[in-house]
Amino acid sequence: MGGYVITGGRSLSGEIAVSGAKNALLPILAASILNDKEIVIHDCPDISDAENMIEILRTLGCSVKREGNTLVIDASNANAYTMPPNISKKIRSSIFMLGSVLGRFKRARFTYPGGCEIGNRPIDLHLDGLKKLNVRIKEEYGYIDCWGDDMRGASIHLDYPSVGATENIMMAAVAARGDSVIQNAAREPEIEDLERFLNELGFSVSGAGTSTVCIKGGGVTRRAEHTVIPDRIVAGTLLCAAAATRGDVLVTNVDTGHISLTLSKLNEMGCDISARRDTVRLKAPERLRRIKLLETLPYPGFPTDMQAQMFALCSIADGTSVIVENVFDNRFKHAAELKRMGADITLKDRTAVISGVERLMGATMFAHDLRGGAALVIAGLCADGRSVVYGSEYVDRGYERFENMLGALGADIDKFEA
Ligand code: UD1
Repeated sequence: MGGYVITGGRSLSGEIAVSGAKNALLPILAASILNDKEIVIHDCPDISDAENMIEILRTLGCSVKREGNTLVIDASNANAYTMPPNISKKIRSSIFMLGSVLGRFKRARFTYPGGCEIGNRPIDLHLDGLKKLNVRIKEEYGYIDCWGDDMRGASIHLDYPSVGATENIMMAAVAARGDSVIQNAAREPEIEDLERFLNELGFSVSGAGTSTVCIKGGGVTRRAEHTVIPDRIVAGTLLCAAAATRGDVLVTNVDTGHISLTLSKLNEMGCDISARRDTVRLKAPERLRRIKLLETLPYPGFPTDMQAQMFALCSIADGTSVIVENVFDNRFKHAAELKRMGADITLKDRTAVISGVERLMGATMFAHDLRGGAALVIAGLCADGRSVVYGSEYVDRGYERFENMLGALGADIDKFEA
């Protein structure tokens, strides 16, 4: 298990550009198998979740070349519809390939997906949506077998605005006969990016970003070039790192419209924020103030993927903060680790009550998931003395060389591989 050694106490300062969004890139990679012409994708972060998706595409017969942060994909020779179980167990987004593999081959064979341990993550909404498109599904011995030889457009009402289910249904529906509508669709910016990409490929999708997404079945695919939107969670994480360390940081290549709630919460904590369309400068106060209440919700609510990082800030803020995690049922694993540093936290079900302490003490901690890992690093940056955070492989899933990003802003952090 790899990790980070951090010596806390240094204020972060300087300028840093945010990479392309993991959660936009993964479904876009999945969708690329729908095309049999060359696809060029820019601003693809070098993160392990993307590498695993690329590995899946290669196993299915696609050619994928990386030139810096640009990927060139040719799926014209794709020839397999069975997910390699060893890789798909590692990342949940392997399930996002279900719709696009079905779209390409009218057949798919999957295993249940893996990913971060952040609670119960069923895929019933994905499967119900596909069934509405007239996909036949058989689940047996951990395998999901799908037949989509007669996919037909349908009206699909999601019981919950699941990001992955919305994306999966969009990717299958472009290959169905007739038109489809997804009601109560998730509205995340990454879904809008997938819509843009599908339209660049030659399909016809509209409404992404609202709760009604319309998909025309069919369309002739063509060569496409796409630039992934900036990662709103990486941007928010860097701002939290600045806020935790009394820092003064300018974050560039960010769509500030996508992080307005994060900015407003940081402002509530006393940070001085100047936001333009694609840059944010944050100057942190001597001591952060508590957040009265932070509740995670589907977009445009506060993102669950920023909850852990804000949790770390609350643990050193002046006063008592309350955080409610509504999206996932087990996403407070960072709390026990922060307690090792002296944080004062009470948990009950989906609610955390955090009484800020003046100082955290350096400690040895274990990351259990991607964003929780980033939060522990942030806590280490502002703690007294040395901290060790094990589990860097979680952080590598979604941050492109996190230690280098923070090091460039003046943090004292080293990564080790065990
Ligand atoms: C995506 C993001 C993830 C983020 C999450 C919520 C990617 C690659 N990942 O994950 O970073 O934390 O959105 O913003 O984009 N659910 C069901 N049945 C389903 C599907 C989901 O009950 O079939 C539940 C989940 O258990 C969870 C909630 O819905 O409690 C949200 O999940 P969902 O929006 O699907 O998240 P993901 O697409 O997995």
